[in-house]
Amino acid sequence: MTHSTLKTQNPNLILVIGGAGYIGSHIVADLLAEGHDITVFDNLSTGFKENIPRGVNFYHGDILNKGDLKGVFQQPFDCVMHFAALKAAGDSMLNPSKYAEHNISGSINILDAMLAANVKNIIFSSSAAVYGAPEYLPVDEKHPTHPENFYGYTKLAIEDILNWYAKLKNINFAALRYFNAAGYDALGRVSQLERNPANLLPIVMEIASGMRKKMQIFGDDYDTHDGTGVRDYIHVNDLATAHIKAMNFIMENNQSLTVNLATGEGFSVLDVIKAVEKITGQKINYEIVARRLGDPAELIAQALRADDILKWKAKHSSLENILETMWRVYRIHRQN
Ligand code: UFG
Repeated sequence: MTHSTLKTQNPNLILVIGGAGYIGSHIVADLLAEGHDITVFDNLSTGFKENIPRGVNFYHGDILNKGDLKGVFQQPFDCVMHFAALKAAGDSMLNPSKYAEHNISGSINILDAMLAANVKNIIFSSSAAVYGAPEYLPVDEKHPTHPENFYGYTKLAIEDILNWYAKLKNINFAALRYFNAAGYDALGRVSQLERNPANLLPIVMEIASGMRKKMQIFGDDYDTHDGTGVRDYIHVNDLATAHIKAMNFIMENNQSLTVNLATGEGFSVLDVIKAVEKITGQKINYEIVARRLGDPAELIAQALRADDILKWKAKHSSLENILETMWRVYRIHRQN
């Protein structure tokens, strides 16, 4: 295993907001292995208490409740990691005010509570959704930001607010623009399935494990090698490593950064289905339906800035490893 299990010399006091969720819990596992002192703050709306390991403090609270935030910031922290957000792009187009409140207002509440407690460092889960339909591929950080859905807009709005707070209030932030996050911890430290997933990989895994009968492919007439949508899938263990490097960077250099986290390689929906059938030995039933609104044909990114500044590269993100680590978790839930 290449990700670190070394104890750090100088443990940081870290508040992980949304640390009981799918991505947050993977980062918590690595932070704990590095010997940091961690508090998870989560409302458990999509996260699981079972995702919080022994040795981690838990504060049950909501980012929309300023009293809850004030309560958790009674303890000292060196850095905040913020994963608490709504993330269904389609839903955000139907319910924009819900996304504005949870994502934008919630983030402002966190920043204001941080400042009141004199905490200056924050790592923010941003998204490739800030770019919108790609004007060129692979997408780099200089690509224009024109989100196609309201979810992506909320992430861009928070990035703008972080930039202003950095100028006006001297905070340091890292905005990490994830491409398609996937996979499960290679060491088996996280084993809760996401509730009601809307993303491709968990849906295909639910079919392989018998939890769902059939899936829909949203369009097979795109200008891609087989007509189905192509995405850049990045393993959550790689995301975790990037968060720790980003935290160390902003704290050591008293500086902010915005970077893509991706592999530079793309796989289509049919590539994924074929690979899952091979790994699981299960037939994946699907039907082809109309394109989903706002879906680009292909989304692939370069993460050269993360490589340059953080010395970070994806190491666990082969499609095979992503799917194998997911199957280890989903097969336990297998129903016949
Ligand atoms: N797809 C299907 N059927 C499904 C689900 C997805 O065919 O049931 C297709 C989509 O059309 C797309 C591909 O599978 O071509 C991937 O779709 P996902 O819903 O898994 O992911 P998206 O690329 O739409 O979006 C994800 C996250 C966003 C994030 C984005 C960044 O959900 O939050 O990756 O690249 F912004």
